[in-house]
Amino acid sequence: MDRDKTRQFLERFTSLAAGATTIGLLAVADRSGLLRSMAGEPPRALPVVADSAGLNARYTEEILSGLVAASIIDYDAENQTFFLSEEHAAVIADDESPYSMTGWLDMIPTALEHTDAISDAARSGGGIAFEDFGERMVRGIDRGNTPSMTVLLTRRWLPEMPDVVDMLKRGARVADFGCGSGGAVRAMAKAYSHSAIFGFDISSSSIERARKQTAEPNATFIVGGSETLQRGRPFDLVTLFDVVHDLADPIAALTDIRSSLGDGGVVLMMEPRIERSLENNINDRAALLYGISTFHCMTQSLAAGGPGLGAAWGRDAAEKLCGVAGFSSFEELPIDNPFSTFYRVS
Ligand SMILES: C[S@@+](CC[C@H](N)C(=O)[O-])C[C@H]1O[C@@H](n2cnc3c(N)ncnc32)[C@H](O)[C@@H]1O
Repeated sequence: MDRDKTRQFLERFTSLAAGATTIGLLAVADRSGLLRSMAGEPPRALPVVADSAGLNARYTEEILSGLVAASIIDYDAENQTFFLSEEHAAVIADDESPYSMTGWLDMIPTALEHTDAISDAARSGGGIAFEDFGERMVRGIDRGNTPSMTVLLTRRWLPEMPDVVDMLKRGARVADFGCGSGGAVRAMAKAYSHSAIFGFDISSSSIERARKQTAEPNATFIVGGSETLQRGRPFDLVTLFDVVHDLADPIAALTDIRSSLGDGGVVLMMEPRIERSLENNINDRAALLYGISTFHCMTQSLAAGGPGLGAAWGRDAAEKLCGVAGFSSFEELPIDNPFSTFYRVS
């Protein structure tokens, strides 16, 4: 046995274990309001931080110490003050920031609650249904995706399809299929007031959350699967943000989506960014993707009798599936995004 290799792996394991407990601490600091109460504040002593967050001083001390140890909170030893920098707050304490990662603070702890069930499913098949993850997961997906929808969708992503933007400005019919809590629907409804934007999702709790958050008069939410897409007039654009790999019957859904398009209609499909082969995916970002896929994306598709494509299914499989569903054009858009890849499909 190569003991140096074992020692190196021990270090790597310690760092992974610290990452897991730190996400736990961050989730507590998020849910208890500690992070938000520190954002924008100057360096402050422990009693002041605890008081202003309305938290028990001893808990606050232990949580802050853990977050200092993990290089998240700055600690000034001389003055014994704690400080959350603007740069770190943009990632962990501001749901509106385009850098926000707060969704993970809901999604990861919620996913890990199902470790026993995933272990059972790994032996006997099946999976955990989307609804069984509960409200916290719906909220996590919302917090995870809505900030980039609000900031980037109409300013960076759609402009890569100028003909589509012209159509949206003039007035088009758009379906955001698998719309979740409606972040993309709201962004498009705001930006293109002459267009009618419809959000479809089979999760009634997601649609309820979407309706509560949406005031735009040209936005409509419908509880339903792909068969409901064909009930009205055809769509000019169907958007699919992190949806296809979750589906129980992706071929049937894509076929319905294709049939729901009018002449010249297009699909914009966003899927997680991943390299083509496993050997090129040896990095933390891919590890996070495979992890959340096992605990959520893949298992909820398998639970519904689906293929369990998983979040890391990649470009080649996506292109093939669109071909099987009858689409003839599949083009990757030149959008530089560390987490997602975008395809124009027609
Ligand atoms: C990962 S979430 C993405 C939600 C949203 N697009 C976003 O970016 O936040 C996938 C969504 O697809 C929805 N979904 C899964 N299967 C569906 C189906 N057959 N018909 C409609 N929606 C579906 C789920 O309920 C969930 O809201």
